[in-house]
Amino acid sequence: MPTHADKLFINIAQLVTPLRLGMHRGGEMAQVRVIPDAALAVRSGEVVWVGTRQDWRGQVSEVIDLDGRAVVPSLIDPHTHAIWAGERLDDFEARAQGASYEEILARGGGIYHTIRCTAQASVEELVALACPRILHLMRSGATTIEVKSGYGLTPEAELKILEAIAQLPAAIARQGGVPTDIVPTLLIHVPPREGREDYLRAVCHALIPEVARRRLARAVDIFIEREAFSVQEAEQVLRAAKAHGLDIKVHADQFHAIGGVELAVRLGARSVDHLEASGEVQIRMLASSSTVATILPGVSLHLGLPPAPARALIEAGAAVALGTDLNPGSSPLFSTQLAMALAVRLNRLTPAEVLVASTANAAAALGLIDRGALVPGARADFLVLSSPDWRDLPYTLGGQIVDAVYLSGERAV
Ligand code: NIG
Ligand code: FE
Repeated sequence: MPTHADKLFINIAQLVTPLRLGMHRGGEMAQVRVIPDAALAVRSGEVVWVGTRQDWRGQVSEVIDLDGRAVVPSLIDPHTHAIWAGERLDDFEARAQGASYEEILARGGGIYHTIRCTAQASVEELVALACPRILHLMRSGATTIEVKSGYGLTPEAELKILEAIAQLPAAIARQGGVPTDIVPTLLIHVPPREGREDYLRAVCHALIPEVARRRLARAVDIFIEREAFSVQEAEQVLRAAKAHGLDIKVHADQFHAIGGVELAVRLGARSVDHLEASGEVQIRMLASSSTVATILPGVSLHLGLPPAPARALIEAGAAVALGTDLNPGSSPLFSTQLAMALAVRLNRLTPAEVLVASTANAAAALGLIDRGALVPGARADFLVLSSPDWRDLPYTLGGQIVDAVYLSGERAV
């Protein structure tokens, strides 16, 4: 028990947290700690103690009464494409009339349309378009948000998008919020219609080295799919990323299981994301690896894809994380909280599993070890809900269940 804290948050009806920081696999995902009538002590932005109110013995500078509401760790959204220009409403309407996402992509629309619109936008315009999207995610409870590039088809265009991502925290702070943590990823999304080999050469020998040198991204991601990159092409890109000290991630098995998971596991990716088309082989492979399986139920809902087999992944012993995949084409989902709610319904996660998927395991998917659980030593990033029962967080569809968001012990939105 610490002798002194800066702040003691009291009158917490329930404090609910994963048992520890770091990746939780299989049955561990169901084990959360629920402390009734709890208190939370914070010093220098870190959690120093949690327990029942009556057990706190130390001194504090400030006591904050949370009015009998529930507290959970703030959410971590490990997969978004929150920066783009233009819209995809024609695709939306065409799909409602029967066209498929892949057909639209194959004829040069979809992602290619967003790439053309994004090419027209300046860095300032991209920042202005992305800020309100990030603020929506923050209001839904996310304080650490990964943002991918990927709507550039040339190294210069990807660099412009990464420069815009780098400006997001300061821009959000200017809009009255607290600068949230943005984790940038370089996404190699779709190949140019011509000159594919030259493009890949430029990515491996110019773009990745420059991104690593300027620290514009922590990780490199690639879309492995029939309409995007092959396993062989992805291997070149991911090996170049590793050689430059960057983490690797893969968009795999969204429509077809063509070997993306196998490659990601073999190369030691932090995460493989999507998995809607994964089967037994991929599930077993993920369960015996330290690669996180990130599911994106917004895509299943929006595109009508089968939900990723999250139950089977957990039962096999894999670590499952959850993201919104916020993007204009496959998942216009502006709420990390709603992603949790969807994962319970579509992927059949339990409330406890989905909390771990959105906190400790989402942190692991980003290689972050200082957040995702309310335990001593962790960053004091937490949510105060409008309910005394934390299960309202994955239960609620719409409405505003998150009352307050705290980042390093300071109130944000
Ligand atoms: O994660 N599948 C590839 N990329 C994104 C969609 C991007 C878009 O449609 O604009 C995804 O689903
Ligand atoms: Fe994605």
